[in-house]
Amino acid sequence: MGATSKDEVEVEGAVESQYDQEKEIRAFDETRAGVKGIVDAGINKLPRMFIHPESGLEKSVSAWKETFSISVIDLEGMHKDPVRRKEIVDKVRDASERGGFFQVVNHGIQVSVLEEMIQGARRFFEQDTEVKKKWYTRDRTKRVVYNCNFDLYSPTAANWRDTAYCFMAPNPPAPEGLPDVCSKILIEYSKQVMNLGCLLLELLSEGLGLDPSYLESIDCGKGLAVLCHYYPACPQPELTFGTSPHSDNDSFTILLQDNLGGLQVLHQNQWVDVPPTPGALVINIGDLLQIISNDKYKSSEHRVLANRVGPRVSIASFFTPDVRATGKLYGPIKELLSEENPPKYRETTAKEYTDYSRAKGLDGTSSLLHFKL
Ligand code: OGA
Ligand code: NI
Repeated sequence: MGATSKDEVEVEGAVESQYDQEKEIRAFDETRAGVKGIVDAGINKLPRMFIHPESGLEKSVSAWKETFSISVIDLEGMHKDPVRRKEIVDKVRDASERGGFFQVVNHGIQVSVLEEMIQGARRFFEQDTEVKKKWYTRDRTKRVVYNCNFDLYSPTAANWRDTAYCFMAPNPPAPEGLPDVCSKILIEYSKQVMNLGCLLLELLSEGLGLDPSYLESIDCGKGLAVLCHYYPACPQPELTFGTSPHSDNDSFTILLQDNLGGLQVLHQNQWVDVPPTPGALVINIGDLLQIISNDKYKSSEHRVLANRVGPRVSIASFFTPDVRATGKLYGPIKELLSEENPPKYRETTAKEYTDYSRAKGLDGTSSLLHFKL
């Protein structure tokens, strides 16, 4: 690392004011080795840039948690039986209204594909550092982006997490343009998760009382970004986050998590665990669906705790409109509005929304506020 020791050594002592956060961040970024690089170097204290002063990590969740759990919705029979389908639509709608978080089982993606996707992501982060470094970039025009904290240079403390993501739709990259260690499974998983995404859009449309094809017809699931997250073991988990509190800036997200846990959703001011459930996928509503449903569906705040045990691996599939279709406006759906239900948001484009929320970073506030009428 280029950073030199004077201010690092003295950081806890008398010359506290000399601490230069920007310099520490730049030196870390230049290693191109992410949080995993720090852990491999064998540290036992967190570098200051990862310390969240306000994290207030109250780990205890109240007894009330016992009475609230994230619903697990069985999608079996969805195509065969209209009565069964109506039941599923009702459950999806209820969960989307209550907190915007649920899990699905019998979703059509084989467990072997889920497992191999987790393994593929793990192989990417655990491959030879020199090979991995070639993918490290903050250039958002690249098809594959690996880095540590997309908002590393924002004023908010950094999260204990590395991420690699790839835009898999529309216009997926050629297989040769993907990392060798996971290209095959990334292509297969993307195909299958896209099919599931289309089914969910049908259920979510029906839940709003609209034609099943409605949300797809306005391109809500046209874009797919697959994010592979790697959360290394953390020596002082109480001082930082794996992912700090945020809501997702997409239409909705399909999350595949391994069995370590740590994901929590804010429900009526309480952090509730989203427990790993073998074979299940977590679905959460994103900001865009909250806007176009005029607050009927909720894009809940969620976070990932750092953990002494690791690494934890998760795969977040972000469904979005095509951000390059810059003329397309998204606002509360006209069919849902009435005198009693006037629009709560102004119209925006997917690009404007994404640019705004990316520039803001994960600072703990919701991007939705900026678009409220
Ligand atoms: C995200 C996210 C949760 C996880 O990618 O937006 O919230 O478990 N991920 O990694
Ligand atoms: Ni998220």
